[in-house]
Amino acid sequence: MVNYIEAFSAPMKNTGAIRLYGPEGFEGMRKACQLTARCLDALVPMVKPGVTTNAIDKFVFEFGMDHGALPATLNYRGYTKSSCTSINHVICHGIPDDKPLREGDIVNIDVTFVVDGWHGDSSRMYPVGEIKRAAERLLEVTHECLMRGIAAVRPGARTGAIGEAIQTFAEAERCSVVRDFCGHGVGKLFHDAPNILHYGRAEEGPELREGMIFTIEPMINLGRPHVKVLSDGWTAVSRDRSLSAQYEHAVGVTATGCEIFTLSPAGLDRPGLPPLKG
Ligand code: MF3
Ligand code: CO
Ligand code: CO
Repeated sequence: MVNYIEAFSAPMKNTGAIRLYGPEGFEGMRKACQLTARCLDALVPMVKPGVTTNAIDKFVFEFGMDHGALPATLNYRGYTKSSCTSINHVICHGIPDDKPLREGDIVNIDVTFVVDGWHGDSSRMYPVGEIKRAAERLLEVTHECLMRGIAAVRPGARTGAIGEAIQTFAEAERCSVVRDFCGHGVGKLFHDAPNILHYGRAEEGPELREGMIFTIEPMINLGRPHVKVLSDGWTAVSRDRSLSAQYEHAVGVTATGCEIFTLSPAGLDRPGLPPLKG
């Protein structure tokens, strides 16, 4: 099944070539990504024990509608929700349903709004009430992995520098990096070249150039990295059922480093954790 965004973007399918965007592309991404960031901000007070992930998904859909944006996941390759909600040992692509969140859960909410054809893709972890210290540590480590990956982005570096920064830190913290899913080029297409691996070595992968736009979205497990996809065809869980976390930003490569398009305007990039300085 093809939704109208896919039909629209069919003529510019992912060919493996890495697109370079100019000022209009960066402006388009700022707008789409900031809408997504504002939605993720608005969810912070909503994520509490008793709320269902379907209620969260409905909020995301209506937030999009109210702001002239379509959720990119809706009817994407047969996916029928406006968000992904991945709880505890769910690594990614958790499907919203009618089960209430419970005190102590950790949930990733992943939203992609399409504004004027630009895809704003971002996700954050939300603690549900009070969470255990081990869960809180996993969130801290995973967010730090994302920010270390972002810090490695500059023209002339290779995509492998991002993966190396993430893997080195995660494993030093006795956590593991999920290999089965990666970041991706994003812009006029939802999932484009290049693949951004969250592990590897700095010498590997294509060279980064000014104007590239992609996501970094490390999935980090407290246990082993291995994945199982459930029979619904989407929900990816850790095989050992260990806790898993993920944060995602969309970034654009600039002359000196990168611009993070999906930063929270309210400083809520790490809900439930102490805000970062600077
Ligand atoms: N937003 C996810 C990503 O970060 C993709 C979700 S696709 C879906 O790339 F179909 F599972 F929603
Ligand atoms: Co993504
Ligand atoms: Co996403």
